[in-house]
Amino acid sequence: MEFGGILGFDIGIILAPMGADVSGPELVAAVANAGGIGLLASPVNGYDVTVKAIQETKKLTKKAFGAGVLLEFDNERTIKAIFDEKLACLEVYWGDFPKEMVDEAHKHGIKVIHQIGSVKEAERAIAAGVDCIIAQGVEAGGHIIGTVSLMALLPRIVDVVGERDIPVVAAGSISDARGYVAALAMGAKGICVGTRFIATKEAYANDYYKQQLLHYTEAETDRTDLYGRLTWRAYVRCLNTPFHQKWRNAPDSIQNDDSQPIIGRTIVYWQEIILRRFAGQVANRTTTGQLQDMVMLAGQGVGLVNDIVPAAEVIKRYVEGAKTIIQGLREKYHPDSTPPTPTTPEDEKWTWVDKFCF
Ligand SMILES: Cc1cc2nc3c(=O)[nH]c(=O)nc-3n(C[C@H](O)[C@H](O)[C@H](O)COP(=O)(O)O)c2cc1C
Repeated sequence: MEFGGILGFDIGIILAPMGADVSGPELVAAVANAGGIGLLASPVNGYDVTVKAIQETKKLTKKAFGAGVLLEFDNERTIKAIFDEKLACLEVYWGDFPKEMVDEAHKHGIKVIHQIGSVKEAERAIAAGVDCIIAQGVEAGGHIIGTVSLMALLPRIVDVVGERDIPVVAAGSISDARGYVAALAMGAKGICVGTRFIATKEAYANDYYKQQLLHYTEAETDRTDLYGRLTWRAYVRCLNTPFHQKWRNAPDSIQNDDSQPIIGRTIVYWQEIILRRFAGQVANRTTTGQLQDMVMLAGQGVGLVNDIVPAAEVIKRYVEGAKTIIQGLREKYHPDSTPPTPTTPEDEKWTWVDKFCF
């Protein structure tokens, strides 16, 4: 079991690139400043707007960060902007990222992180030469590409990766330090967190949405394809709100087209958007309208989300909590072992429990 940084970052905790702009500049910078791996939710296929979002982030942090891109859409211009801005890493999701593109990213000094939901996808990502794989379980919030729970998927992906120098990161309902340590015990080198980071001061989500997270439990989410069918018909996990309960069995023909009433307005990355019923967008800070009738993406780990705190505090709780658990395990099972003496400044940063566990 290894505990520590990955991909050159101090801490192996990835902020999921939560769209459309929940993981905006403020949240990404906060996570980066706290030593984690902040991934910006990229604007869809726009060069200038992506550069602008990256520049906004750079104003808030001197630390390295990355961005996430959805391969479901044509995102050539967004990817070019990420390459030109030479971010530390590019996360890709929902599709194949060919070897030529991985090579191109590497030429720009950018590491590629591929989020997958199955062994087959992981095999293709490995063949393409990615630097990191996020294994996403079906309990995750937001879009979910697979159908397998993290507990079953993660060790399989760890086995498929084998001895290769490709850290496997676990995603899906890891909302506190216990989940972090469990993921490490199953062979992950880090975790990718979405839902817990929505309930932070810096997340660009609407306050109403953040507040709702505090009141729902692990039994009150649903896997559904009801939202955003017009642009992207895919499964997401969301809160099972009264609105969702009423419509969750709506027939396939129901979609967020012009026949649906307008339920709100929002601005996403400087662009105004009209929200119709069943739109796929979550409410951000600018959103007005029937907030209770908008999709609220969240993972089953929402039951562990009980407060809205700064992102740095979330990271601290994961790291300190994990250290306490690991230290307890060490004392229980290896009471006579002595911690290695730190010899370099790098070692000083990490006490014995951090890097050298079992
Ligand atoms: C609001 C929201 C939006 C998301 N948007 C994206 C996205 O644009 N790209 C992506 O790779 N993953 C996205 N995800 C999924 C995350 O990458 C990750 O798998 C998930 O958040 C982990 O589960 P958790 O939310 O239970 O922590 C999103 C998740 C949420 C909750």
